[in-house]
Amino acid sequence: MTAIVSGTAPVVLIAEELAPSVLEVLGSDVEIRHVDGADRSALLPALADAAAVMIRSATQIDAEALAAAPNLKVVARAGIGLDNVDVAAATERGVMVVNAPTSNIVSAAEHAVALLLAAARQIPAADASLREGAWKRSKFMGVEITDKTVGVVGLGRIGVLFAQRLAAFGVELIAYDPYIQPGRAAQLGVRLVSLEELLRESDFISIHLPKSPETLGLIGAEELALTKRGVIIVNAARGGLVDEAALADALRSGQVGAAGLDVYATEPTTDSPLFGLPNTVVTPHLGASTTEAQDKAGTAVARSVRLALQGEFVPDA
Ligand code: NAD
Ligand code: MLT
Repeated sequence: MTAIVSGTAPVVLIAEELAPSVLEVLGSDVEIRHVDGADRSALLPALADAAAVMIRSATQIDAEALAAAPNLKVVARAGIGLDNVDVAAATERGVMVVNAPTSNIVSAAEHAVALLLAAARQIPAADASLREGAWKRSKFMGVEITDKTVGVVGLGRIGVLFAQRLAAFGVELIAYDPYIQPGRAAQLGVRLVSLEELLRESDFISIHLPKSPETLGLIGAEELALTKRGVIIVNAARGGLVDEAALADALRSGQVGAAGLDVYATEPTTDSPLFGLPNTVVTPHLGASTTEAQDKAGTAVARSVRLALQGEFVPDA
């Protein structure tokens, strides 16, 4: 391991829980400090000495946080989405932003499949009911996936892995992604369609978009009204891509039959109207929460942090 040459050991601020392997990769020639990145009153003063800050999705590294970090060289996002980092403001200050774009794609795709199956067969509600002492077979009627149409919104890394896994169920796969070449989709056995066609044709819809000004609120009341009655919607990408109030209304009316949700417009949250509905399956942003994904994300960005602190070229993680 090349040593970091500096008068004093540079401070690496770990602002969220990361895999234990991160510390090993960071080595002993840095000073590691910990802070709860979701607590702004703790984060801002802690950033004062930091040469690197390591985060997941709960820490906002915005212009204010960057201004509080005069020694910062690198922001390391142990995961994919950079919607909690003001990349433009960081670049303006000469602060490098690194992430691990492939680290958790398998885990996120598998989680979306799990949410889809759990919603289709009402598994969490049936599990809770049985544990409460009720043996109710007719209450928990499900739907099959085989021979249905599955719409993938965003056919990027995770969308493709999700589609490949769903293909094994014998479904028709369609996708909306204006940035993908039709030839690439065809190779994957996916038919590219407009968003409106996807909404009208799908029995199941799974969203795999980044959060951006363009995608925020992409699926609102008008779009939900176009769906097949009883459609099952999965969102393990980002909260707010589907308007939560509109989704709650559609779940209440039966326009949407069920939803599997991992992400929310505001996080952390424990009091969404979506949590009180019988036809939602909800998890607290667990898409990347596997041993494998956390290990890959943590070690990839820890390597990037070391390179950045050594002043070396940082390749894509
Ligand atoms: P990706 O960049 O590989 O794919 C995103 C796809 O969305 C691209 O193909 C892009 O063309 C498409 N897209 C962008 N804007 C669009 C638009 N307006 N309309 C339609 N398509 C559009 O990213 P990925 O690795 O597949 O990850 C997707 C997102 O999933 C991440 O940005 C992150 O927010 C989220 N994610 C969540 C978890 C979790 O824990 N729940 C884990 C990993 C990633
Ligand atoms: C990501 O974008 O990688 C996900 O939100 C996973 C995470 O950071 O937990």
